[in-house]
Amino acid sequence: MPDAIDQTGAWRALERHRSDLAGFSLRKTLREDSGRFPRLSCHSERLLLDFSRNLLTDRTLELLRNLAATAGLERQREAMFAGEPVNVSEHRPALHCALRAAPEDDFRVGGEPVTATVLHELERFTAFAEAVRRGEARGTGGEPFASVISIGIGGSHLGPALVLEALAARADGPPVRFLANLDGHDLNRALAGLDPARTLVLVMSKSFGTLETRVNAEDVRTWLVNSLGEEAVASHFAAVTSNPGAAGEFGIPPERQFTFQDWVGGRYSLWSAIGLPAAIGLGREAFLELLAGAREMDRHFRTRPLLENLPVLLALIGVWYINFHHRDSLAVVPYDERLRLLPAWLQQLEMESNGKGVHLDGSPVSHETAPVVWGGVGSNAQHAFFQRLHQGPGFVPLDLLAGLEDESGHPRHHRLLLANCLAQAQALAHGRDATEVRAMLEEEGLGPERIETLLPHRSFPGNRPSNLLLYRRLDPRTLGQLLALYEHKVFCQAAIWQINPFDQWGVELGKQLAGEFALKLERDDKSDPGGLIGVLRRGRWD
Ligand code: F6P
Repeated sequence: MPDAIDQTGAWRALERHRSDLAGFSLRKTLREDSGRFPRLSCHSERLLLDFSRNLLTDRTLELLRNLAATAGLERQREAMFAGEPVNVSEHRPALHCALRAAPEDDFRVGGEPVTATVLHELERFTAFAEAVRRGEARGTGGEPFASVISIGIGGSHLGPALVLEALAARADGPPVRFLANLDGHDLNRALAGLDPARTLVLVMSKSFGTLETRVNAEDVRTWLVNSLGEEAVASHFAAVTSNPGAAGEFGIPPERQFTFQDWVGGRYSLWSAIGLPAAIGLGREAFLELLAGAREMDRHFRTRPLLENLPVLLALIGVWYINFHHRDSLAVVPYDERLRLLPAWLQQLEMESNGKGVHLDGSPVSHETAPVVWGGVGSNAQHAFFQRLHQGPGFVPLDLLAGLEDESGHPRHHRLLLANCLAQAQALAHGRDATEVRAMLEEEGLGPERIETLLPHRSFPGNRPSNLLLYRRLDPRTLGQLLALYEHKVFCQAAIWQINPFDQWGVELGKQLAGEFALKLERDDKSDPGGLIGVLRRGRWD
């Protein structure tokens, strides 16, 4: 194992450079350097990243590239694509890129080719999706399915839900409802108004053992069986899982089971049969386009030089803020209602992947890793949390996203939405200094005393960075590129930090304790009559 990255010369050079840039003014730089946008922007076939509004110079980028080279980013990238066991704590590859393979791509695991197996399963589940869409797959009563419930959580929910929401205008299959939460209210919502005789239920779980999914699947099964009888399970349920035995015990026959390999992590599984709800809603062709877009991004990631490489740039800019400006938060704001689920998907991707405190070799990490990812859609977010971004202490780096073309049929709305997006990026970067505020208030006719009182409240510090990610249209290919871009960004950061982005042991302890608490709440447990368990068991505190 090489030195921890924060012990390298490349890291120290960046620390020194950060001090040298202490007086850096984004406002001044943007005004004086007209070549900044052409120089500090980069594109793939479908995405344009404008990273000119960041607290960095060309020298910063060079030093960040050195850091990536020191960490062996390109070598680690090739190890992932080669199917090496990069997920060291589970000793397996992370080969989600194989799920979007073209027939000629030769992905291998342990030397064995896997592309044909992947394509075979893709054919199976998209054929099933088409059969559902055409009304050929039917329930026990012989009726076609009018609605679909997709039961799954985390990576078995967020990706397909995001895709269906983003491309809803194209969805022409039966409507899909997602059921993720353990909360019975979510179960009630998911079942409300549905006719069991015309409902298809998908159980989406890599492990087929996740508590939330099992409990919801059992309850939906009971709902269905109460109305249609036990024999309905085989025709009204389908499963996507890596645990066919458990799905079989549940009553789902092999022909209604779709699978993916253990070398696909849950949060990277959208491209597998976990995408089935999206394939049902949008159709096979659109799903294949989504995969093709992701494949385009894979190619971009593997072939472009580091500083012309979108995932690498996003990762390096993130590292610059996380590790050298000590910013532990990243806000994601799509100016596109269709991407309203993107922040939630990214939360799992970034925080479950890189929320780690040890290196690949188990030694402790002594610097920050995954940021807290959060966000919401523009322009709503401007009337919620943007005040904090403009004038709160310190800065929060932002990713802003917007589409160039109006696809809503409301060009005026779209123009204004874009104007707001640009305005926020500029306001954050430039701010408004005391001289400007004073002139503005004088023009409003305010007296000198009032002006002095208002000055600190009405001034904006500025110098607050943001990335702007633009796409022409939000079609399936573009969405595929966008999601794969963020997947690879997260991978690049993990590669620099030398941590494993593909395990999630931290989630386990809570799962185990929940089991123990469930027993205490169920049983006639007298061990804590005056304590919290007693309150919860009695349902009252007096
Ligand atoms: O939250 C932990 C986790 O294991 C995620 O990584 C995964 O996406 C989710 O649970 C669901 O797991 P499964 O698909 O096995 O039900």
